[in-house]
Amino acid sequence: MQASISPLKSLMTNSFSVPCKPLLQWYRANLRELPWRHTSDPYQIWVSEIMLQQTQVKTVLPRYQQWFQLFPSIQHLAVAPLDDVLKAWEGLGYYRRARFIHAAAQQIIAKHDGVFPEQFDAIVNLPGIGKSTAGAIASFCFDMNTPVLDGNVKRVLKRWHELPEATDKQLWRLAQTAIDTSQKFATWNQAMMELGATMCQAHRAQCDDCPVSKHCKSAFSNIEKQPSNKKKTAVKDVFWQINLHTHPDKGLWLQQRPNKGIWASLWTPPIIELDTRPNVEPCYIHLLTHRRLHFYTIQSKSEPVSKGRWVTDITDLALPTGIHRLLSKYHINTMG
Ligand code: ADE
Repeated sequence: MQASISPLKSLMTNSFSVPCKPLLQWYRANLRELPWRHTSDPYQIWVSEIMLQQTQVKTVLPRYQQWFQLFPSIQHLAVAPLDDVLKAWEGLGYYRRARFIHAAAQQIIAKHDGVFPEQFDAIVNLPGIGKSTAGAIASFCFDMNTPVLDGNVKRVLKRWHELPEATDKQLWRLAQTAIDTSQKFATWNQAMMELGATMCQAHRAQCDDCPVSKHCKSAFSNIEKQPSNKKKTAVKDVFWQINLHTHPDKGLWLQQRPNKGIWASLWTPPIIELDTRPNVEPCYIHLLTHRRLHFYTIQSKSEPVSKGRWVTDITDLALPTGIHRLLSKYHINTMG
């Protein structure tokens, strides 16, 4: 019987050689033309990396261009009201990112004379920037040997080394060795992300066409079917009564949510969280990463008593996508 080998031991006895040349060649010949790949300006790279953290490229593309019309520089962003920044983020989801990007712009003005910092430690200390995003920015803008380790890159490294259970600590070490060996820091990070996003997807590994399959210990081994070691996030059901107050002239009554919690700082009709599931069907269910929101709408023509304000043009304010969907179900179209 073969003794099982611990992930750490197998890491230490690994005879893996980093396939720099074929991967870089493949990337140069096959890269998707994306606007942030034509710049090394830290502001533009930073915004792209934050938008791409949890949102697909095709959703980001139009929003990325619009962003710089609204906030052409870090200075413009820092002095903009938070409401304008949230509005510009509308539809991208995970609004915490918008609040962080705004706070980081203010920090760059206050602590770095308005110039995006070049030191890795200063970059990673900005709100909303973790080690992987800082690695992307530092390599793309300042040619530093700082690896990216996002979900795609983790999967590629795990497959190359056949270490499905590798810890983040092990993966950071492998990622560092790989980028150092490549000697092309920016292109290497882009190529690793591109391979993970296209050839080596979680449920679709195209080993037949992969430029590095010869070097991959998991190639052609049904890797999509391997169980993921990712913990499933528990989704909690919540029951919300949504009070829709409308007025033919004054529009819709909206209030701003608290600056913490679900949809922080966004605008919604008054919401009352119910203790128990009502006996009627919800009029709409909206899914978030950790919550399933069940909406029970009450329409009212009466004057609202809750805090808030009448809004005739909702295009000025940031409303969550779930509320946009609900309003369109009720044909409430308050667009100025
Ligand atoms: N995802 C995160 N960063 C990216 C980038 N620079 N290009 C494409 N996808 C990405």
